[in-house]
Amino acid sequence: MTKLWGGRFTKPTNKLVEEYTSSINFDQKLALQDIEGSMAHVEMLGACDIIQMNEVIQIKEGLLAIQEKVKNGDVTFSVEHEDIHMNIEKLLIDEIGPVGGKLHTGRSRNDQVATDMHLYLREKTKGLMELVEAVQSSLVEQAENHVETILPGYTHLQRAQPVSFGHHLMAYFWMFERDKDRLQDSLKRVNWSPLGAAALAGTPYPIDRQMTSDALGFDQPYPNSLDAVSDRDFILEFLSVSSIMITHISRLSEELILWGSQEFQFVELDDAFCTGSSIMPQKKNPDVPELLRGKTGRIYGHLMGLLTLLKGLPLAYNKDMQEDKEGMFDTVETLEGALSLLAPMLASMQVKGDQMKNAVNEDYSNATDIADYLAVKGMPFREAHEVIGKIVLYSIQQKKYLLDLTLEEYQDFSSLFEVDIFEKLNPNQVVAARNSEGGTGFDQVRKQIQLAKEHLS
Ligand code: ARG
Repeated sequence: MTKLWGGRFTKPTNKLVEEYTSSINFDQKLALQDIEGSMAHVEMLGACDIIQMNEVIQIKEGLLAIQEKVKNGDVTFSVEHEDIHMNIEKLLIDEIGPVGGKLHTGRSRNDQVATDMHLYLREKTKGLMELVEAVQSSLVEQAENHVETILPGYTHLQRAQPVSFGHHLMAYFWMFERDKDRLQDSLKRVNWSPLGAAALAGTPYPIDRQMTSDALGFDQPYPNSLDAVSDRDFILEFLSVSSIMITHISRLSEELILWGSQEFQFVELDDAFCTGSSIMPQKKNPDVPELLRGKTGRIYGHLMGLLTLLKGLPLAYNKDMQEDKEGMFDTVETLEGALSLLAPMLASMQVKGDQMKNAVNEDYSNATDIADYLAVKGMPFREAHEVIGKIVLYSIQQKKYLLDLTLEEYQDFSSLFEVDIFEKLNPNQVVAARNSEGGTGFDQVRKQIQLAKEHLS
């Protein structure tokens, strides 16, 4: 088989080299973007009188026929034609004859591949934003049902202060909101057109880069041809944003795993989202959140991989850059899978409010409130902290919780205690009282959910 670039060569390519250097096995994912870019390019070639209008028409018809076949899975790509760009060019020439060879006038695979990836990532970024919103909707829905469900809030994974479960879930809502913002913001930089930068230096043909940029829905052409073909920072940015997002997904997954354990029993994932053990019949394993947590590694890996790949590269294109694709594809697909599962898994999760309440009743997480109680009555907070430390120690020794002590026992520690202390220590009251802006007080949580809904709509 003759190569599209075969003219300068006297020998066929070594088969191993052909295999090793080809990217068609993975860059065929860019087939439709490649055709879209070619359609805009060939229209422009016609409009600028670089090729004849009848040639434009033939090439466009040929491209549309190939597009149809790609959509129907009717094409076979070959390693001999190395990558998606040359495979499609070859298919075009087979389809319409030598006139197909005019398509590549005034461009190079270098601006072509960059254009394809910008188009791909723009579309995928928008799709991911929608998937993030579905996760956020599940969070809001559960949060709304559990504003007054209380559970221990933790620091150092030690019970700290009781919080609203709705509040806890909404913490993740805002993380995902920022992830969505970051994706949105990255679109500004994804949306530049490399097309027409040609191999690296531009082209002597009187092309119109603004025209192709507009036709492809880009905001503007890259102002520098070297930058246009060498830049992969739009992918780095996507991988960075994705790394942050999968970190959030992983932390949430970790909590679901903990909460679902026998030790916590705060939630139960729906059977449809769990799997069994092949040997221990009693087990219901949280495989989905475990995998979500586990997928984090590969996305961080792709980010580190591309950073490392690019750091020493001289301008402009180097073949190393062909390695930029698989990590990007894998990150997109990993996130699509993760977000698509997370949304229904959260929505169907059963929340065990009684278990949460029991946990709160069996801890010392209302201790801060006793300190606050004394502080309000005039004792300096630091001193109050010391007094309560002694009360907690006493209670532990007596095997009692703070609500089990009698008023007399409290008064042994400070004469400031009165009977209203018991009301103050009631966990519901403890949560409701934290009504500072963004706090876990029920009114604040409701306000926050309202705000979240405005962000979603
Ligand atoms: N398959 C190549 C890549 O993905 C396309 C660009 C090839 N350019 C070149 N000068 N060899 O990077």
